Amino acid sequence: MTEPAPAAPSLGTRSTRWLAVPLLAFALVSLTAGLLARHSPRSKGYFRLFFSDPVHLKAGFATAAVALACFQLFSAAWIFRKLPWPRPRWIGRAHRWSGRLAFAFTLPVAYHCIFKLGFQDPDTRVLAHSLLGCAVYGAFAAKVTIVRLHRFQRWVLPVAGALLFSVLVGVWYTSALWLYQHTTSAAPAYAVPSPIPASANAAAGAAVFKTAGCAGCHTLAAAHAGGQIGPNLDTLKPNYAQVLAQVTNGGGGMPSFAKTLTAAQIRNVAAYVASNAGG
Ligand code: HEC
Repeated sequence: MTEPAPAAPSLGTRSTRWLAVPLLAFALVSLTAGLLARHSPRSKGYFRLFFSDPVHLKAGFATAAVALACFQLFSAAWIFRKLPWPRPRWIGRAHRWSGRLAFAFTLPVAYHCIFKLGFQDPDTRVLAHSLLGCAVYGAFAAKVTIVRLHRFQRWVLPVAGALLFSVLVGVWYTSALWLYQHTTSAAPAYAVPSPIPASANAAAGAAVFKTAGCAGCHTLAAAHAGGQIGPNLDTLKPNYAQVLAQVTNGGGGMPSFAKTLTAAQIRNVAAYVASNAGG
């Protein structure tokens, strides 16, 4: 902040034109993330560490990153003397290290989102999540650029920090928070019985299960499937309507099959899973 500078011109505030640099960093990095994520979901290479599945791993790390980001906001306010208490000497270091840790916590999430699941747009929530996800590292790059270049106008750094914070919270809001609310509120639905209609052919559904890639993500003994990414279907024992809805709409890390399977194929695979899970 109080760096001695030899020549007078270098002491001044940068002109507004310099804002093009962080803006360019934002655009380039966001675009790169989006381009890297341009693929359909891959079925291999996920990991879950000590979480129940990769979706909860993502949610856990994203939540930790958001918690640290809250500390970032708080410590930044302290650094700029916006809090009523005197500024402690360690606060600058705490701010930097919590920022680095938050960044590290986003990496396992980004790995799954960018390289495994890819950019998706089946509904507004997932589209918003995909867009914000690409913007996170862009906003991060912009903020780091501003910190490194110094001497921007006073409002630039707080605005960049606030934008990064908002984007991160937006990503978290459209995914982890949604997941936690969704998993609890969806639970009672499993008690409702749902008969398999005559128009659905479970035997034909077995082939759909194999070719559509369900086996890569789900365990289902009847299909000799051992996928670990989504829930174990033998344990979950979903009924017909639940499989139908999930395969049609996707969600929670599973792609929608509405565009890749016909309505009849979806009915068949739903009948197959509903009548074979847990058997
Ligand atoms: C890329 C991996 C992936 C593929 C491919 C996949 N799923 Fe899933 N599936 C998931 C994940 C992850 C979840 C957990 C969603 C959640 O927590 O909301 C899930 C959830 C489910 C559920 C539970 C829905 C509920 O109500 O909780 C069912 C049933 C299901 N999948 C069936 C299928 C079928 C049938 C196919 C093939 C047509 C399939 N899945 C393909 C990853 C996948």
